Amino acid sequence: MTHGPTYRDASLPIPERVADLISRMTPEEKVGQMMQLDARGDLNHLVNERHVGSILHTSPENLIEAHALTDQTRLQIPLLVGEDCIHGHSFFPGATIFPTQLGMAASWSYELAEKAARVTAVEAAATGIHWTFSPVLCIARDLRWGRVNETFGEDPHLIGELASAMVKGYQGNGLNDETAILATAKHFAAYSETQGGRDASEADVSHRKMRSWFLPPFERVAKEGCRTFMLGYQSTDGVPITINNWLLNDVLRGEWGYTGMLITDWDNVGRMVWEQKIMPDYMHAAAAAVKAGNDMVMTTPQFYEGALDALQKGMLTEADLDAAVARILTLKFELGLFENPRRPDSARITSDLGTDEHTAINLDVTRRSLVLLENDGVLPIAAESSVIKKIAVVGPNANDHQYQLGDWAGNSGQAGWMPDGHNVEQITTVFEGLRDLAPEGWTVEYARGANVVTLEDDPAGQFFPDGQPRPQVAVPAPVDQQLHDEALALAADADYVVAVVGDAIPLVGEGRSTATLNLLGGQEKLLEELAALGKPMIVVLLASKPLVLPASGLGADAVVWAANPGMRGGQALAELLFGQIEPSGRLPITFARHVGQQPTYYNQIRGQHGDRYADLTQDPQWAFGYGLSYTTVEYSGLVLSATELRVEDTISATVTLTNTGTRPALETVQGYVSDVVTSVSWTDKELKGFTQVLVGPGESVEARIEIPVADCTIVDASGHRVVESGEFELLVGPSSRDADLLRAKFVVA
Ligand code: NOJ
Repeated sequence: MTHGPTYRDASLPIPERVADLISRMTPEEKVGQMMQLDARGDLNHLVNERHVGSILHTSPENLIEAHALTDQTRLQIPLLVGEDCIHGHSFFPGATIFPTQLGMAASWSYELAEKAARVTAVEAAATGIHWTFSPVLCIARDLRWGRVNETFGEDPHLIGELASAMVKGYQGNGLNDETAILATAKHFAAYSETQGGRDASEADVSHRKMRSWFLPPFERVAKEGCRTFMLGYQSTDGVPITINNWLLNDVLRGEWGYTGMLITDWDNVGRMVWEQKIMPDYMHAAAAAVKAGNDMVMTTPQFYEGALDALQKGMLTEADLDAAVARILTLKFELGLFENPRRPDSARITSDLGTDEHTAINLDVTRRSLVLLENDGVLPIAAESSVIKKIAVVGPNANDHQYQLGDWAGNSGQAGWMPDGHNVEQITTVFEGLRDLAPEGWTVEYARGANVVTLEDDPAGQFFPDGQPRPQVAVPAPVDQQLHDEALALAADADYVVAVVGDAIPLVGEGRSTATLNLLGGQEKLLEELAALGKPMIVVLLASKPLVLPASGLGADAVVWAANPGMRGGQALAELLFGQIEPSGRLPITFARHVGQQPTYYNQIRGQHGDRYADLTQDPQWAFGYGLSYTTVEYSGLVLSATELRVEDTISATVTLTNTGTRPALETVQGYVSDVVTSVSWTDKELKGFTQVLVGPGESVEARIEIPVADCTIVDASGHRVVESGEFELLVGPSSRDADLLRAKFVVA
């Protein structure tokens, strides 16, 4: 009887298999195992000359080839295949594409976020993806940042809830389930604390500020078993996150007991050499990254020579490599890749992608992602076939299938193999949705009306110093008089104008922060002249992030925000406009009145000189938590079951919701806590809990909010999270705005 090597014996405990495999690996194989390289490159080089442990951005064809090459290697260590499936399996034809994370966050629904992630996992797993780089736990701070759309918005509590849900959805019932994929909590930590909204700038945060806002969501998913963490691009206090010993070792692996894998972001190790210029060469950078506890190094090809040189010079030992390699191999064994390498499964690709069931879940998520911001009663549109009407659907985002999906989807730019994007048959635009759902006999016509931006080469050159292509720069498009006139003519002849305006892919994403939040190109002029027609006008802001509407847009009869709403966006919007569903989305992020108000997040620290600029209020346009229904719901009778509490207790409150209209409402009842006097400056209120309640027309319903007193914390001057005894207030209502909140006092002994 022949025996295979120990590491191949699935009956043995994982640590034993890991140790055996490591004992057989050469230093070159260990260094390679720590590398994740771009699979759009030369696969033979990656697999045979670099012994690469993981690949990303792998087209379906390249995936098959990469596995075939790996099968011929000495140890046949399966590749770990990662991809950015951040709102659906973004770069695979036929997959289900959900609203962006920011859109999903507007649902405030744990259940839906979990379901969306589960669908994504099932679809991605079928195609041979083992690992998604999602969810994003960054706290959106400055709306100019290009990656606001990837976040769950601005509130740490809401982010923690939804991130927890997505991790659960991705990782399913455990990694040995073949529909489970690894989740990634990213970007660790405070990457989003930009300067001026500029991507990947220095994140100027103290340890205390980290512990106050940026770390809690990460802590939650680390403790709940998220198996991988990705570092951001930022440095803090002069230290790139890649070598931030305090965050990686003291906090993450130390205090939180995290046992999963750490991956750098794109070329973080190389950037310490060529961009941040704190390392003289790749040898020093590789040594520092390994010493700091990074396991997988994303797309720094020079890490290979760098780490081997460092080994030779004694800057690294093999034991240093072994610790990282062990964590990577542990995940590969936990996923069962040595027994079942989970390659693309053509039968499951046919049966599991874009199914009716997945589409139905997507539609549910999308309906709940839409936020009604203004409505003078024009909505819902009275849809009766007895009265024939005309709807003019105008604007650059009214019928743009690919843009509707948002960033990280199809042809948004990150992976090159879907130049035409996703199949338009799977996508319903706003124009198509309205046309399909309009009552019989109605006319629904479309005119683009305006362009948003055009692209020009960056004067700094076409490539970055590391050879990566430099994105082109976005220039506001000139008014196209013909497009403009066509839209005006269509609108002049219509009973309703639906103007779908917003941003465009060149204004969204990594390295694509914006200096302005205004509508660009011909859009403002278009809105202005449409408004002047005096027709009932509904503005759909189909925009990746909160933008600033001009007066003509703000004065429209109704305004709806649809953060890139995914494949079912147009259908869900049409259902909302025609009153087939109730608007229920609530803002996970504040809308500004003017770009100069940045930042506008609701939970800022007390202590400014009043609440206005000399020339403008600081009051936002629409506050965190806000959103309208097709009815009004009054809040009354906030009662606490006890007002003298200890830290072990739970605050329990009831409030009565009365629906004073004729349509049902799905209310998101929000509970904020205010610590009246704190030992250090703190915010006036923080979201600590919420619940969603259906209230029928004319009905009164009691809602209950429960918040552990242990959550009523601040971070004190020494950086410790504590509950300070004394007086508190519970604030309950439909948004974070003071005027919307009922207040009840309690005391913590
Ligand atoms: C860089 C991005 O910052 C990160 O979010 C992404 O997962 C990686 N590139 C891989 O595409």
